Amino acid sequence: MNEIKIFSPATVANVACGFDVLGFCLDNVGDEMIVRKTAKKGIYITKIEGFDLPFEADKNVAGVSALALIEDAKPDFGFEIEIYKHIKPGSGIGSSAASAAGSVFAINELLGRPYNKTQLTYFAMKGEALASKCEHADNLAPAIFGGFTLVKSINPLEILQIPTPNDLFATIIHPQIEVKTSEARAILPKEIPLQHAITQWANVGSLVHALHINDYKLISKSLHDVIIEPYRSKLIPYFHEVKNASLNAGALGCGISGSGPSIFSLSKGVETSKNVEVAIKNIYKNTSIEFDTFVCKINTQGMKILS
Ligand code: HSE
Repeated sequence: MNEIKIFSPATVANVACGFDVLGFCLDNVGDEMIVRKTAKKGIYITKIEGFDLPFEADKNVAGVSALALIEDAKPDFGFEIEIYKHIKPGSGIGSSAASAAGSVFAINELLGRPYNKTQLTYFAMKGEALASKCEHADNLAPAIFGGFTLVKSINPLEILQIPTPNDLFATIIHPQIEVKTSEARAILPKEIPLQHAITQWANVGSLVHALHINDYKLISKSLHDVIIEPYRSKLIPYFHEVKNASLNAGALGCGISGSGPSIFSLSKGVETSKNVEVAIKNIYKNTSIEFDTFVCKINTQGMKILS
């Protein structure tokens, strides 16, 4: 195989209570990439459509993760990468992770799969770090593994796959403002009250348990963030109005997607998720901020090979 076309999905990191450790994978929303072998060694980004991003491999997240992989694999040929970007950078649904994970996934396929998914996540973290100025894998892991994932540790990298209840749907609203992950991290406190930590880790534990036993009520009771949301919600106009509307429309929970500005809700059943979408649209359509919304199932496969 000399060429591959892949779909690299958007993802939601943190999932309310699990800052930097939990994430889940979205369906049908993501980037496409074509990667082909070249006689010349190295990584060459030859096409970028959708958004204005650097072509130099060492300045592009997809390039940096690909360089990390070939530095280890040392193939005696190189790769050309075409990026068809649909996820807006800075939207909070894992734009940089989709690029960073997509290139290493595709190259691994062209090399005959020498690396497992955890190793691919490790290489992709090098690209992700370029965008967010710190290594974290909570968007990369769900993009590569699919479904819900928990990053048990980044050094050494250890990722756990968590089951996805069948009837779980996500509703996303993306206000068209940019929140840089590095800035959304800079405003967070360095220390937190013990009582908040206790609440938060109880919620992480019960959410993981609820996902295992398909307990939608417990999912709902666990989707609370007492640590990060109070700080970051200030960066997202009408966050609390959206959250209230979403919960009133029947969502199990609602929170900031990654570092924002996107906001995610989880619901049981597609009908409820669509009602949630209508309710949150009603909040934003009365503002001057452009936005888009979508509803999707949780993608349990992650990356997809298109051809
Ligand atoms: N866990 C990261 C953060 C995800 O919230 O900063 C960034 O997409």
